[in-house]
Amino acid sequence: MQHGVVGKIAGGLQPDALVRRKLAFTVGWPPVAVAQVEGEIEFESMIAMFGGNLGPALLDAGKRFGCGDVGDAGRMVEPVLGNLERCREAEDGPTALDRGDPAGGERQAIAYALHVVEDRDAGIARTQEVRVQRMHAGLGLDSAGGGHECLPGYLSAEHALAIRMGTTAPEDIEFDLFEVEEVQKCVDCGLGHVFNLPHRHVPAHRCCRLRVARETRVRCMAQNFPEGFRWGTATAAHQVEGGNWNNDWWAWEHAEGSPCEEPSGDAVDQWHLYEQDIALCAALGFDNYRFSIEWSRIEPEPGLFSRAALDHYRRVCAACHAHGMEPVVTFHHFTTPRWVVAEGGWHTASTVDRFLRFSEVAVGALGDLIGRACTINEPNIVAMIGYQMAFFPPGVSDLDQYRRATDNFIDAHQRVVPILRGGPGDFPVGLTLSMADHQAVPADDPDALSTLDALRRDMEDQYLDVCTGDDFLGVQTYSRTRVGPKGVIGGEPGYDILEMGYEFYPEALEACIRRAWDYTGGAIPLLVTENGIGTHDDDQRRRYVTTALEGVLACLSDGIDVRGYTYWSLLDNFEWCFGYRPRFGIIDVDRSTQRRIVKPSGEWLGRVARANALIE
Ligand code: BGC
Repeated sequence: MQHGVVGKIAGGLQPDALVRRKLAFTVGWPPVAVAQVEGEIEFESMIAMFGGNLGPALLDAGKRFGCGDVGDAGRMVEPVLGNLERCREAEDGPTALDRGDPAGGERQAIAYALHVVEDRDAGIARTQEVRVQRMHAGLGLDSAGGGHECLPGYLSAEHALAIRMGTTAPEDIEFDLFEVEEVQKCVDCGLGHVFNLPHRHVPAHRCCRLRVARETRVRCMAQNFPEGFRWGTATAAHQVEGGNWNNDWWAWEHAEGSPCEEPSGDAVDQWHLYEQDIALCAALGFDNYRFSIEWSRIEPEPGLFSRAALDHYRRVCAACHAHGMEPVVTFHHFTTPRWVVAEGGWHTASTVDRFLRFSEVAVGALGDLIGRACTINEPNIVAMIGYQMAFFPPGVSDLDQYRRATDNFIDAHQRVVPILRGGPGDFPVGLTLSMADHQAVPADDPDALSTLDALRRDMEDQYLDVCTGDDFLGVQTYSRTRVGPKGVIGGEPGYDILEMGYEFYPEALEACIRRAWDYTGGAIPLLVTENGIGTHDDDQRRRYVTTALEGVLACLSDGIDVRGYTYWSLLDNFEWCFGYRPRFGIIDVDRSTQRRIVKPSGEWLGRVARANALIE
């Protein structure tokens, strides 16, 4: 990133990223820089200028960037130009761009065009999407810097940025306070230029000009997160504490024929080392730490509550506060006391009552120190993998029990919310739900789509249906799930398969945030309470998180209320049936000495957290 002044922008915006790119047509004909376009040009004449080659060029460009669905160049051009045309017609009227479009359609059209240009181009940051925020006046974009180095679409501002064209000469647009990134590489695609088509009535002396109506706010995706955005890391008791012998997972790890690769044992001994883990987390730059309290320690026998265990968790919460971090406390993270399971487990209604009683006692002891509470972690996963796939305890494959367990989890969540809200303390309470980017294959196959709907109904919708009255919804996403007509299918050739058996697909986070938001009608704030990757390749981790965070930024710039990002996990730890093999941590642990070693990805993510911006 090179800092430089390219002009000035009025309005006192903070320094921000501005990508300045060279644009040149290099597809299908000798390169023609946009700068060579002079005079008043209509779209038709522009096509003519390129010898009628625009369509095939777009097609080539699309293929080249791997956009299979570009297929028909006409379809690509139409949504962009169609909108422009509509605006021209209604130049003097308000809200011109919206006419005939579903809300946001014009934005999509522009964003799509940009996406095609950029998505596969390694030299260009992904998804610098133009966001048309308001339609009540005109959209103006200009090349400001002049020539072929076009600014449109690459202004990055924390706030919506209004550039008035037609009334403001390009020379008068001030662009200082921006950072300028020189991208040496040309974008080998003509499509970006469609976006910059000159307007019939606008002198196109600088040519990179799009005039749509009189004034429109254009907001490009900022690299900054909003003020107050929360940054955290997460763990769960059984995965880090060690010695949790009194729960169903320990029993499962040691059962004959267990699918577990190894037992949890001492884990990473966080029971004793919590203070240094919390200090490390804070020192890296995070402002919250999510951990779970272990029911089987707090209530080792029915109705017998351990003051010592509760005091331990008070100390954990206090340590977070002492290090300036908010304690985010999960009340149930996969493990259930052995005695509860002996009485039936989650497919039995009495488990709900047991859980509520435990939660009431626990919140009574800890509530004044809690910063945020998560009720039940991924009940959908516990139910599905424990009661259908027989891979988690109780290790059965029984549809009836699965349904009952699901109902009980939903019931437990709904009933525990008011108990936790009852305090002491006053903190937000919500569910943390496992979500996947479900994709039908083929995308428009009706059977695949109905299979996908049924799966999603089971795994997500029935939980989303009951959480809108909560204080937040925790979105937890790791990858996508491809669904064919008959059910879940494997990864797509060409995509890396991770140690967990699913694809490297960090884009899933954005899709899941959008789905949670759409499905709940924006009724509830979202938090990413888990996202991460199990890998031995720390660079891959950073790539994964970068893409995931770009997705969060895209959601934010669309107005989705995402309030924080929590990386799973602070430490390499016990990954359930997979044992200690997958490495999700940003901190490595040498389990022979329990020594912690911060990974480069941890240092980096800490810097991102401190900067509250997606930085290098
Ligand atoms: C769980 C964690 C787990 C992580 C990575 C989430 O589903 O909440 O306990 O370690 O995924 O697999």
